[in-house]
Amino acid sequence: MSNDRQLTPLDTIVSLCKRRGFIYQSSEIYGGINGFWDYGPLGVQLKNNIRDDWWRSMVECAPLDENGEPVHIVGLDSSIIQNPRAWVASGHVGGFSDPMIDCRACKARFRADHLEEYDCPRKPSKKAGAHESCDLTEPREFNLMFETFVGAVKSDESRAYLRPETAQGIFLNYKNVLDTTRVKLPFGIAQIGKAFRNEVTPRNFVFRSREFEQMEMEWFCHPDESEKWMDFWKRERMRWWRSLGIREEHLIFRDHEADELAHYSKACVDVEYLYPFTAPKYGELEGIAHRGCFDLTQHGTHAEMKLDYTDPVTNERFVPNVIEPASGLTRGVLVLLCEAYTEEWVPKEGVEGGPREAVSGESTPEGYESRVVMKFAPRLAPVKVAVFPLLKNKPELVAKAREVFKELRQHWHCFYDQTGAIGRRYRRQDEIGTPYGVTIDFDTLADNTVTLRDRDTMKQERISLDELSGHLAGRLAS
Ligand code: GAP
Repeated sequence: MSNDRQLTPLDTIVSLCKRRGFIYQSSEIYGGINGFWDYGPLGVQLKNNIRDDWWRSMVECAPLDENGEPVHIVGLDSSIIQNPRAWVASGHVGGFSDPMIDCRACKARFRADHLEEYDCPRKPSKKAGAHESCDLTEPREFNLMFETFVGAVKSDESRAYLRPETAQGIFLNYKNVLDTTRVKLPFGIAQIGKAFRNEVTPRNFVFRSREFEQMEMEWFCHPDESEKWMDFWKRERMRWWRSLGIREEHLIFRDHEADELAHYSKACVDVEYLYPFTAPKYGELEGIAHRGCFDLTQHGTHAEMKLDYTDPVTNERFVPNVIEPASGLTRGVLVLLCEAYTEEWVPKEGVEGGPREAVSGESTPEGYESRVVMKFAPRLAPVKVAVFPLLKNKPELVAKAREVFKELRQHWHCFYDQTGAIGRRYRRQDEIGTPYGVTIDFDTLADNTVTLRDRDTMKQERISLDELSGHLAGRLAS
Protein backbone atom coordinates (compact mmCIF):
# COMPACT_ATOMS: atom_id res chain seq x y z
CA MET A 1 0.00 0.00 0.00
CA SER A 2 1.43 3.40 -0.92
CA ASN A 3 2.20 6.23 1.44
CA ASP A 4 -0.35 8.52 -0.21
CA ARG A 5 -3.13 6.45 1.35
CA GLN A 6 -5.54 8.82 3.02
CA LEU A 7 -4.85 9.05 6.77
CA THR A 8 -8.01 8.96 8.85
CA PRO A 9 -8.52 12.22 10.80
CA LEU A 10 -8.10 11.76 14.55
CA ASP A 11 -11.66 13.05 15.18
CA THR A 12 -13.07 10.14 13.17
CA ILE A 13 -11.08 7.65 15.28
CA VAL A 14 -12.14 9.34 18.53
CA SER A 15 -15.78 9.22 17.56
CA LEU A 16 -15.65 5.54 16.55
CA CYS A 17 -13.93 4.78 19.88
CA LYS A 18 -16.73 6.46 21.81
CA ARG A 19 -19.55 5.07 19.66
CA ARG A 20 -18.40 1.47 19.81
CA GLY A 21 -16.89 1.30 23.28
CA PHE A 22 -13.12 1.33 22.69
CA ILE A 23 -12.14 4.43 24.67
CA TYR A 24 -14.18 6.91 26.74
CA GLN A 25 -13.23 10.18 28.34
CA SER A 26 -12.51 9.52 32.02
CA SER A 27 -15.18 10.69 34.53
CA GLU A 28 -17.34 11.81 31.64
CA ILE A 29 -20.50 12.27 33.70
CA TYR A 30 -18.64 14.92 35.73
CA GLY A 31 -17.39 16.74 32.65
CA GLY A 32 -14.23 14.66 32.23
CA ILE A 33 -10.70 15.25 33.50
CA ASN A 34 -8.03 16.39 31.10
CA GLY A 35 -5.42 13.79 30.19
CA PHE A 36 -7.20 10.69 31.52
CA TRP A 37 -9.03 8.01 29.55
CA ASP A 38 -11.05 4.87 30.23
CA TYR A 39 -10.76 1.78 28.06
CA GLY A 40 -14.20 0.34 27.32
CA PRO A 41 -15.17 -3.28 26.66
CA LEU A 42 -13.49 -3.42 23.25
CA GLY A 43 -10.58 -1.12 24.13
CA VAL A 44 -9.46 -3.18 27.10
CA GLN A 45 -9.61 -6.33 24.99
CA LEU A 46 -7.50 -4.74 22.25
CA LYS A 47 -5.03 -3.34 24.79
CA ASN A 48 -4.69 -6.72 26.52
CA ASN A 49 -4.09 -8.46 23.19
CA ILE A 50 -1.23 -6.06 22.33
CA ARG A 51 0.16 -6.39 25.86
CA ASP A 52 0.08 -10.19 25.69
CA ASP A 53 1.74 -10.21 22.26
CA TRP A 54 4.58 -7.99 23.56
CA TRP A 55 5.01 -10.16 26.67
CA ARG A 56 5.15 -13.31 24.60
CA SER A 57 7.62 -11.81 22.14
CA MET A 58 9.86 -10.56 24.98
CA VAL A 59 9.57 -13.05 27.84
CA GLU A 60 7.95 -16.34 26.86
CA CYS A 61 9.25 -16.56 23.31
CA ALA A 62 12.13 -14.06 23.31
CA PRO A 63 13.94 -13.48 20.00
CA LEU A 64 16.93 -15.49 18.80
CA ASP A 65 20.45 -14.09 19.00
CA GLU A 66 23.09 -14.16 16.25
CA ASN A 67 23.78 -17.84 17.02
CA GLY A 68 20.13 -18.78 16.68
CA GLU A 69 19.69 -19.19 20.45
CA PRO A 70 16.85 -17.50 22.41
CA VAL A 71 17.97 -14.48 24.45
CA HIS A 72 17.09 -14.62 28.14
CA ILE A 73 14.48 -12.19 29.49
CA VAL A 74 12.54 -12.53 32.75
CA GLY A 75 9.40 -10.68 33.83
CA LEU A 76 8.67 -8.34 36.72
CA ASP A 77 5.74 -6.44 38.20
CA SER A 78 7.06 -3.84 40.64
CA SER A 79 5.05 -1.41 42.76
CA ILE A 80 3.91 1.95 41.39
CA ILE A 81 4.96 3.84 44.52
CA GLN A 82 8.59 3.30 45.48
CA ASN A 83 10.93 4.72 48.08
CA PRO A 84 11.20 8.40 47.05
CA ARG A 85 15.01 8.19 47.30
CA ALA A 86 14.86 6.07 44.13
CA TRP A 87 13.59 9.10 42.20
CA VAL A 88 16.33 11.31 43.59
CA ALA A 89 18.95 8.77 42.47
CA SER A 90 17.37 8.33 39.05
CA GLY A 91 17.50 12.09 38.44
CA HIS A 92 13.73 12.50 38.19
CA VAL A 93 13.30 14.68 41.29
CA GLY A 94 15.98 17.06 40.06
CA GLY A 95 15.48 16.93 36.33
CA PHE A 96 12.27 15.34 35.06
CA SER A 97 10.61 18.53 33.95
CA ASP A 98 9.29 20.35 30.90
CA PRO A 99 9.61 24.08 30.37
CA MET A 100 6.18 25.75 30.37
CA ILE A 101 4.92 29.16 29.37
CA ASP A 102 1.64 30.77 30.47
CA CYS A 103 -0.28 33.51 28.70
CA ARG A 104 -1.33 36.16 31.25
CA ALA A 105 -4.03 37.40 28.84
CA CYS A 106 -5.96 34.19 28.08
CA LYS A 107 -4.54 31.87 30.80
CA ALA A 108 -3.55 29.24 28.22
CA ARG A 109 -0.51 27.08 28.97
CA PHE A 110 2.04 25.86 26.44
CA ARG A 111 5.18 23.74 26.39
CA ALA A 112 7.97 26.20 25.71
CA ASP A 113 9.96 23.67 23.69
CA HIS A 114 7.00 23.05 21.33
CA LEU A 115 5.58 26.62 21.26
CA GLU A 116 5.37 26.71 17.47
CA GLU A 117 2.94 23.75 17.50
CA TYR A 118 0.26 25.51 19.60
CA ASP A 119 -2.62 27.76 18.58
CA CYS A 120 -3.81 30.64 20.77
CA PRO A 121 -7.29 29.62 22.03
CA ARG A 122 -8.71 33.04 21.02
CA LYS A 123 -10.28 33.99 17.70
CA PRO A 124 -9.31 34.70 14.98
CA SER A 125 -7.15 31.62 14.96
CA LYS A 126 -3.45 32.45 15.33
CA LYS A 127 -0.33 30.76 16.67
CA ALA A 128 0.43 30.97 20.41
CA GLY A 129 1.78 34.42 21.23
CA ALA A 130 0.77 35.89 17.84
CA HIS A 131 -2.15 38.10 18.99
CA GLU A 132 -1.22 41.65 19.86
CA SER A 133 -2.63 41.23 23.37
CA CYS A 134 -0.82 37.92 24.05
CA ASP A 135 1.28 38.29 27.18
CA LEU A 136 3.58 35.28 27.58
CA THR A 137 5.59 34.56 30.73
CA GLU A 138 9.22 33.49 30.66
CA PRO A 139 9.62 29.65 30.50
CA ARG A 140 9.51 27.95 33.91
CA GLU A 141 10.57 24.37 34.65
CA PHE A 142 7.67 22.18 35.75
CA ASN A 143 8.34 18.76 37.32
CA LEU A 144 6.14 16.10 35.73
CA MET A 145 5.94 13.70 38.65
CA PHE A 146 2.64 13.33 40.51
CA GLU A 147 3.14 13.61 44.25
CA THR A 148 1.26 11.80 46.98
CA PHE A 149 1.77 11.11 50.70
CA VAL A 150 2.27 7.75 52.33
CA GLY A 151 0.62 7.26 55.72
CA ALA A 152 -1.57 9.52 57.82
CA VAL A 153 0.64 12.63 58.01
CA LYS A 154 1.23 14.92 55.04
CA SER A 155 4.78 16.17 55.36
CA ASP A 156 8.02 16.35 53.40
CA GLU A 157 9.05 13.06 55.04
CA SER A 158 5.93 11.24 53.82
CA ARG A 159 6.03 12.63 50.27
CA ALA A 160 6.18 9.97 47.54
CA TYR A 161 5.67 9.85 43.79
CA LEU A 162 3.60 7.90 41.30
CA ARG A 163 6.20 6.35 39.00
CA PRO A 164 6.72 8.33 35.77
CA GLU A 165 8.28 5.27 34.09
CA THR A 166 8.24 1.55 34.82
CA ALA A 167 12.00 1.30 34.23
CA GLN A 168 13.20 2.26 37.72
CA GLY A 169 11.33 -0.66 39.34
CA ILE A 170 13.51 -2.89 37.17
CA PHE A 171 16.79 -1.28 38.28
CA LEU A 172 15.72 -1.52 41.93
CA ASN A 173 15.25 -5.26 41.45
CA TYR A 174 18.41 -5.93 39.41
CA LYS A 175 20.20 -7.44 42.41
CA ASN A 176 17.13 -9.46 43.51
CA VAL A 177 16.81 -11.03 40.08
CA LEU A 178 20.54 -11.70 39.85
CA ASP A 179 20.63 -13.31 43.32
CA THR A 180 17.45 -15.38 43.06
CA THR A 181 17.36 -16.60 39.48
CA ARG A 182 20.14 -18.15 37.46
CA VAL A 183 20.40 -15.40 34.87
CA LYS A 184 23.80 -14.60 33.40
CA LEU A 185 24.79 -11.57 31.39
CA PRO A 186 23.48 -10.64 28.88
CA PHE A 187 19.89 -10.82 30.08
CA GLY A 188 16.80 -8.67 30.24
CA ILE A 189 14.04 -7.79 32.71
CA ALA A 190 10.68 -6.83 31.22
CA GLN A 191 7.78 -5.04 32.80
CA ILE A 192 4.38 -3.74 31.67
CA GLY A 193 2.41 -1.30 33.78
CA LYS A 194 0.99 2.11 34.47
CA ALA A 195 3.07 5.27 34.49
CA PHE A 196 1.97 8.77 35.43
CA ARG A 197 3.17 12.15 34.19
CA ASN A 198 1.57 15.46 34.99
CA GLU A 199 1.97 16.55 31.36
CA VAL A 200 1.79 20.32 30.81
CA THR A 201 -0.53 19.91 27.83
CA PRO A 202 -1.97 16.42 27.36
CA ARG A 203 -3.34 16.17 23.83
CA ASN A 204 -4.12 14.17 20.73
CA PHE A 205 -6.43 11.72 22.47
CA VAL A 206 -4.44 9.00 24.28
CA PHE A 207 -1.16 9.95 22.52
CA ARG A 208 -0.04 12.16 25.39
CA SER A 209 -2.02 11.49 28.55
CA ARG A 210 -1.30 11.87 32.23
CA GLU A 211 -1.90 8.21 33.07
CA PHE A 212 -0.75 5.65 30.52
CA GLU A 213 0.81 2.21 30.22
CA GLN A 214 4.34 1.33 29.23
CA MET A 215 6.01 -1.86 28.03
CA GLU A 216 9.70 -1.62 28.94
CA MET A 217 12.62 -3.99 28.91
CA GLU A 218 16.05 -3.30 30.41
CA TRP A 219 18.76 -5.34 28.69
CA PHE A 220 21.89 -5.74 30.85
CA CYS A 221 25.09 -6.44 28.92
CA HIS A 222 28.86 -6.04 28.92
CA PRO A 223 29.84 -2.45 27.97
CA ASP A 224 31.95 -3.76 25.05
CA GLU A 225 28.87 -5.41 23.56
CA SER A 226 26.42 -2.56 24.10
CA GLU A 227 26.56 -1.22 20.51
CA LYS A 228 25.92 -4.69 19.12
CA TRP A 229 22.86 -5.11 21.35
CA MET A 230 21.60 -1.61 20.54
CA ASP A 231 21.53 -2.67 16.85
CA PHE A 232 19.93 -5.98 17.77
CA TRP A 233 17.08 -4.36 19.73
CA LYS A 234 16.53 -1.71 17.05
CA ARG A 235 15.97 -4.42 14.45
CA GLU A 236 13.90 -6.56 16.77
CA ARG A 237 11.56 -3.79 17.90
CA MET A 238 10.85 -2.64 14.36
CA ARG A 239 10.18 -6.24 13.38
CA TRP A 240 7.66 -6.59 16.22
CA TRP A 241 5.70 -3.43 15.38
CA ARG A 242 5.49 -4.53 11.77
CA SER A 243 4.30 -7.97 12.87
CA LEU A 244 1.21 -6.28 14.33
CA GLY A 245 0.17 -5.37 10.80
CA ILE A 246 1.48 -1.79 10.70
CA ARG A 247 2.39 -0.71 7.15
CA GLU A 248 6.11 -0.53 6.56
CA GLU A 249 5.98 3.04 5.23
CA HIS A 250 4.14 4.23 8.36
CA LEU A 251 7.12 3.45 10.63
CA ILE A 252 10.58 5.02 10.66
CA PHE A 253 13.62 5.26 12.94
CA ARG A 254 14.75 8.67 14.13
CA ASP A 255 18.04 9.23 15.95
CA HIS A 256 17.93 11.73 18.80
CA GLU A 257 20.09 14.82 18.45
CA ALA A 258 22.61 15.28 21.28
CA ASP A 259 20.57 18.17 22.76
CA GLU A 260 17.33 16.16 23.07
CA LEU A 261 18.79 13.13 24.87
CA ALA A 262 17.25 12.37 28.27
CA HIS A 263 19.56 12.92 31.25
CA TYR A 264 20.31 9.18 31.53
CA SER A 265 20.88 8.41 27.91
CA LYS A 266 24.10 8.14 25.85
CA ALA A 267 22.20 7.61 22.61
CA CYS A 268 18.59 7.04 21.65
CA VAL A 269 16.66 6.11 18.55
CA ASP A 270 12.89 6.41 18.35
CA VAL A 271 10.52 4.22 16.39
CA GLU A 272 8.14 6.79 14.94
CA TYR A 273 4.68 6.40 13.39
CA LEU A 274 2.85 8.51 10.83
CA TYR A 275 0.00 9.76 13.06
CA PRO A 276 -2.81 11.74 11.36
CA PHE A 277 -1.98 14.73 13.60
CA THR A 278 1.79 14.70 12.90
CA ALA A 279 1.67 13.93 9.15
CA PRO A 280 3.60 14.53 7.00
CA LYS A 281 5.98 14.21 9.95
CA TYR A 282 6.17 11.14 12.18
CA GLY A 283 5.76 11.03 15.97
CA GLU A 284 7.24 8.89 18.75
CA LEU A 285 5.90 5.42 19.44
CA GLU A 286 8.89 3.81 21.18
CA GLY A 287 12.34 4.92 22.35
CA ILE A 288 15.34 2.59 22.29
CA ALA A 289 17.92 4.14 24.61
CA HIS A 290 21.51 3.32 25.46
CA ARG A 291 21.42 4.12 29.18
CA GLY A 292 25.08 3.18 29.73
CA CYS A 293 25.71 2.36 33.40
CA PHE A 294 23.87 5.47 34.62
CA ASP A 295 21.04 3.85 36.59
CA LEU A 296 22.93 1.02 38.29
CA THR A 297 25.73 3.40 39.23
CA GLN A 298 23.32 5.99 40.63
CA HIS A 299 21.32 3.48 42.67
CA GLY A 300 24.54 1.79 43.77
CA THR A 301 25.81 5.11 45.13
CA HIS A 302 22.55 6.29 46.71
CA ALA A 303 21.66 2.92 48.25
CA GLU A 304 25.31 2.26 49.19
CA MET A 305 25.21 -1.16 47.65
CA LYS A 306 27.29 -2.62 44.83
CA LEU A 307 25.08 -3.15 41.79
CA ASP A 308 27.69 -4.71 39.56
CA TYR A 309 28.34 -8.08 37.96
CA THR A 310 31.14 -10.60 38.20
CA ASP A 311 31.73 -12.67 35.11
CA PRO A 312 31.69 -16.33 36.27
CA VAL A 313 34.34 -17.34 33.70
CA THR A 314 36.80 -14.43 33.64
CA ASN A 315 36.03 -13.04 37.12
CA GLU A 316 35.93 -9.58 35.55
CA ARG A 317 33.86 -7.22 37.72
CA PHE A 318 31.97 -4.36 36.10
CA VAL A 319 28.74 -2.38 36.10
CA PRO A 320 26.64 -3.62 33.17
CA ASN A 321 25.45 -1.30 30.43
CA VAL A 322 21.77 -1.12 29.68
CA ILE A 323 19.89 -0.99 26.39
CA GLU A 324 16.24 -0.07 26.92
CA PRO A 325 13.43 -0.56 24.40
CA ALA A 326 10.62 1.51 26.02
CA SER A 327 7.25 1.67 24.34
CA GLY A 328 3.81 2.97 25.15
CA LEU A 329 1.11 0.33 25.33
CA THR A 330 -1.69 2.90 25.22
CA ARG A 331 0.10 4.73 22.41
CA GLY A 332 0.30 1.38 20.62
CA VAL A 333 -3.50 1.06 20.95
CA LEU A 334 -3.86 4.44 19.23
CA VAL A 335 -1.50 3.38 16.44
CA LEU A 336 -3.43 0.18 15.81
CA LEU A 337 -6.74 2.06 15.77
CA CYS A 338 -5.36 4.55 13.22
CA GLU A 339 -3.84 1.76 11.17
CA ALA A 340 -6.92 -0.50 11.15
CA TYR A 341 -9.53 2.14 10.31
CA THR A 342 -10.64 1.68 6.69
CA GLU A 343 -13.56 3.09 4.72
CA GLU A 344 -14.60 0.99 1.76
CA TRP A 345 -17.14 0.83 -1.02
CA VAL A 346 -18.77 -2.53 -1.19
CA PRO A 347 -21.07 -3.85 -3.95
CA LYS A 348 -24.75 -3.98 -3.07
CA GLU A 349 -26.50 -7.32 -3.19
CA GLY A 350 -26.67 -8.65 -6.74
CA VAL A 351 -23.74 -6.47 -7.94
CA GLU A 352 -20.54 -8.31 -8.94
CA GLY A 353 -17.14 -7.54 -7.34
CA GLY A 354 -15.47 -7.12 -3.96
CA PRO A 355 -14.78 -4.22 -1.59
CA ARG A 356 -12.62 -1.25 -2.76
CA GLU A 357 -11.00 1.40 -0.62
CA ALA A 358 -13.16 4.55 -0.63
CA VAL A 359 -11.67 7.70 -2.18
CA SER A 360 -11.98 10.64 0.17
CA GLY A 361 -14.14 13.47 -1.17
CA GLU A 362 -15.79 11.29 -3.84
CA SER A 363 -19.33 10.00 -3.46
CA THR A 364 -20.11 6.30 -3.32
CA PRO A 365 -20.38 4.90 -6.87
CA GLU A 366 -23.66 3.57 -8.27
CA GLY A 367 -24.43 0.05 -7.05
CA TYR A 368 -22.11 0.37 -4.05
CA GLU A 369 -22.56 1.27 -0.41
CA SER A 370 -19.91 2.31 2.07
CA ARG A 371 -18.70 0.44 5.12
CA VAL A 372 -16.23 1.10 7.92
CA VAL A 373 -14.04 -1.86 8.72
CA MET A 374 -11.32 -2.12 11.36
CA LYS A 375 -8.69 -4.34 9.78
CA PHE A 376 -6.95 -5.54 12.94
CA ALA A 377 -4.63 -8.52 12.59
CA PRO A 378 -6.92 -11.40 13.65
CA ARG A 379 -4.81 -12.26 16.73
CA LEU A 380 -5.23 -8.69 18.04
CA ALA A 381 -8.92 -8.18 17.22
CA PRO A 382 -11.01 -7.60 20.36
CA VAL A 383 -13.71 -10.05 19.24
CA LYS A 384 -12.62 -13.00 17.13
CA VAL A 385 -15.86 -14.60 15.96
CA ALA A 386 -19.48 -13.43 15.80
CA VAL A 387 -22.24 -16.05 15.72
CA PHE A 388 -25.61 -15.33 14.15
CA PRO A 389 -28.82 -17.30 13.66
CA LEU A 390 -30.16 -16.25 10.26
CA LEU A 391 -33.59 -15.51 11.78
CA LYS A 392 -34.34 -14.79 15.41
CA ASN A 393 -37.93 -16.01 15.31
CA LYS A 394 -37.03 -19.59 14.37
CA PRO A 395 -36.34 -21.37 17.69
CA GLU A 396 -34.47 -24.24 16.02
CA LEU A 397 -31.99 -21.78 14.40
CA VAL A 398 -31.56 -19.86 17.65
CA ALA A 399 -30.96 -23.07 19.61
CA LYS A 400 -28.33 -24.29 17.14
CA ALA A 401 -26.64 -20.87 17.04
CA ARG A 402 -26.48 -20.77 20.85
CA GLU A 403 -24.92 -24.25 20.82
CA VAL A 404 -22.25 -23.14 18.31
CA PHE A 405 -21.61 -19.94 20.29
CA LYS A 406 -21.14 -21.86 23.53
CA GLU A 407 -18.67 -24.18 21.85
CA LEU A 408 -16.59 -21.44 20.18
CA ARG A 409 -16.46 -19.17 23.24
CA GLN A 410 -14.43 -21.80 25.03
CA HIS A 411 -11.56 -21.01 22.65
CA TRP A 412 -12.00 -17.34 21.66
CA HIS A 413 -13.71 -14.14 22.62
CA CYS A 414 -16.98 -14.48 20.70
CA PHE A 415 -20.10 -12.40 20.28
CA TYR A 416 -23.66 -13.61 19.74
CA ASP A 417 -26.10 -11.39 17.85
CA GLN A 418 -29.59 -12.21 16.62
CA THR A 419 -30.95 -8.66 16.20
CA GLY A 420 -31.58 -7.02 12.82
CA ALA A 421 -31.03 -8.00 9.20
CA ILE A 422 -27.98 -10.24 8.69
CA GLY A 423 -26.27 -7.62 6.50
CA ARG A 424 -26.50 -5.04 9.29
CA ARG A 425 -25.20 -7.53 11.80
CA TYR A 426 -22.15 -8.15 9.57
CA ARG A 427 -21.55 -4.37 9.29
CA ARG A 428 -21.69 -3.91 13.05
CA GLN A 429 -18.95 -6.53 13.42
CA ASP A 430 -16.89 -5.01 10.56
CA GLU A 431 -16.85 -1.72 12.44
CA ILE A 432 -15.24 -3.33 15.50
CA GLY A 433 -12.92 -5.52 13.44
CA THR A 434 -14.29 -9.01 14.11
CA PRO A 435 -12.42 -11.21 11.59
CA TYR A 436 -15.06 -13.94 11.16
CA GLY A 437 -18.83 -14.31 11.19
CA VAL A 438 -20.57 -17.67 11.49
CA THR A 439 -24.20 -17.85 10.33
CA ILE A 440 -26.55 -20.70 11.17
CA ASP A 441 -29.37 -21.23 8.65
CA PHE A 442 -31.77 -23.99 7.63
CA ASP A 443 -29.04 -25.88 5.75
CA THR A 444 -27.14 -26.12 9.05
CA LEU A 445 -29.97 -28.18 10.48
CA ALA A 446 -29.97 -30.44 7.42
CA ASP A 447 -26.25 -30.98 6.73
CA ASN A 448 -24.37 -29.60 9.76
CA THR A 449 -22.63 -26.85 7.76
CA VAL A 450 -22.47 -23.09 8.47
CA THR A 451 -21.58 -19.98 6.50
CA LEU A 452 -18.17 -18.58 7.43
CA ARG A 453 -17.78 -14.92 6.39
CA ASP A 454 -14.40 -13.24 6.06
CA ARG A 455 -14.30 -9.60 7.30
CA ASP A 456 -11.79 -8.34 4.72
CA THR A 457 -12.86 -10.08 1.51
CA MET A 458 -16.53 -10.41 2.60
CA LYS A 459 -16.40 -13.82 0.91
CA GLN A 460 -18.63 -16.51 2.35
CA GLU A 461 -17.86 -20.20 2.35
CA ARG A 462 -19.75 -23.20 3.50
CA ILE A 463 -17.94 -25.21 6.13
CA SER A 464 -18.77 -28.27 8.19
CA LEU A 465 -19.32 -27.62 11.90
CA ASP A 466 -16.97 -30.50 12.69
CA GLU A 467 -14.12 -28.60 11.01
CA LEU A 468 -15.02 -25.09 12.15
CA SER A 469 -12.79 -24.82 15.25
CA GLY A 470 -9.73 -26.26 13.54
CA HIS A 471 -10.27 -23.99 10.58
CA LEU A 472 -10.61 -20.86 12.74
CA ALA A 473 -7.61 -21.78 14.91
CA GLY A 474 -5.29 -21.56 11.91
CA ARG A 475 -6.71 -18.27 10.67
CA LEU A 476 -7.00 -16.50 14.00
CA ALA A 477 -3.36 -17.06 14.91
CA SER A 478 -2.14 -14.61 12.22
N1 GAP B 1 12.03 4.51 30.59
C1 GAP B 1 12.19 5.37 29.44
C2 GAP B 1 11.00 6.16 29.15
O1 GAP B 1 10.05 6.24 29.92
P1 GAP B 1 9.95 7.74 27.35
O2 GAP B 1 10.37 8.00 25.93
O3 GAP B 1 9.73 8.90 28.24
O4 GAP B 1 11.06 6.76 27.94
C3 GAP B 1 8.61 5.62 26.63
O5 GAP B 1 8.64 6.85 27.34
C4 GAP B 1 7.30 5.51 25.86
O6 GAP B 1 6.20 5.73 26.73
C5 GAP B 1 7.14 6.59 24.75
O7 GAP B 1 7.79 6.19 23.57
C6 GAP B 1 5.63 6.61 24.59
O8 GAP B 1 5.20 5.56 23.76
C7 GAP B 1 5.14 6.35 26.01
N2 GAP B 1 4.76 7.60 26.66
C8 GAP B 1 5.58 8.50 27.26
N3 GAP B 1 4.89 9.54 27.75
C9 GAP B 1 3.59 9.30 27.45
C10 GAP B 1 2.36 10.00 27.69
N4 GAP B 1 2.34 11.16 28.37
N5 GAP B 1 1.21 9.46 27.23
C11 GAP B 1 1.21 8.28 26.57
N6 GAP B 1 2.33 7.57 26.33
C12 GAP B 1 3.51 8.07 26.75
